[in-house]
Amino acid sequence: MKHNAASLRAMKSIAPIPMLTAYTAPIARCLEAAGVPVILVGDTVGMVEMGFDSTRHVTLDHMRYHIGAVRRGAPNTHVIGDLPYNSDRDPETALCSAGLLLEAGADSVKLEGPKYDVIRHLVANGIDVVGHTGLTPQTAANFKQVGRDSDDAKRVLEEALGIADAGASLLVLEHIPDALAQAITQAVAIPTIGIGAGPDCDGQVLVINDALGFGEKWPPFSRQYAYLDKAIVEAAKRYVGEVTQRNY
Ligand code: KIV
Repeated sequence: MKHNAASLRAMKSIAPIPMLTAYTAPIARCLEAAGVPVILVGDTVGMVEMGFDSTRHVTLDHMRYHIGAVRRGAPNTHVIGDLPYNSDRDPETALCSAGLLLEAGADSVKLEGPKYDVIRHLVANGIDVVGHTGLTPQTAANFKQVGRDSDDAKRVLEEALGIADAGASLLVLEHIPDALAQAITQAVAIPTIGIGAGPDCDGQVLVINDALGFGEKWPPFSRQYAYLDKAIVEAAKRYVGEVTQRNY
């Protein structure tokens, strides 16, 4: 069954929601085959697949390309498309950008930060929105954990409440202390999806390259379920050896 925003919302406190990112059709096909109910086509694609040093270089065209690929690979899975940096700067621009992501194959859109007017406008126009607070990479100065002191924790909690109140269906909590994630999860009626936010959220999302051990380094909070970098280097070395021995 393909989830929609309402069926995902109904999972709060019933069953943890496993979410992963994907950017390509073959990975999306594998995730659908494994029963992953929600795929996020995150703008992390810019860093983990495109070699940029920041998600700020990702454009709407990049996102449309990757959302289309994921949709073709996972036709029966809920796909969230990330609104790239600045494409959600005001309600009308965001509505236009979100329309482009839905047209490319997304079922809902995600945006970072306390953009309450934007969320309200998208929801009023029938678009399901996923909020995102805590560490928000599009505007963060670094990738350190946030919400550690009481003022910052209060700010993150207020943002979470504001995002839920504006009508978001799900809320991503990135790299905040476990206790703060737990307090937010208890305070909002929508499911929270943590990434580096502990086990008390209503679900977890990981960046697929981090989970597969595919890349040069991974954040401390991400487990590795495979080590693809190593497997690829070993396979390529074997290939080089065989071809140089005329064994092909
Ligand atoms: O872009 C992304 O992949 C994300 C996740 C890190 C939540 O926003």
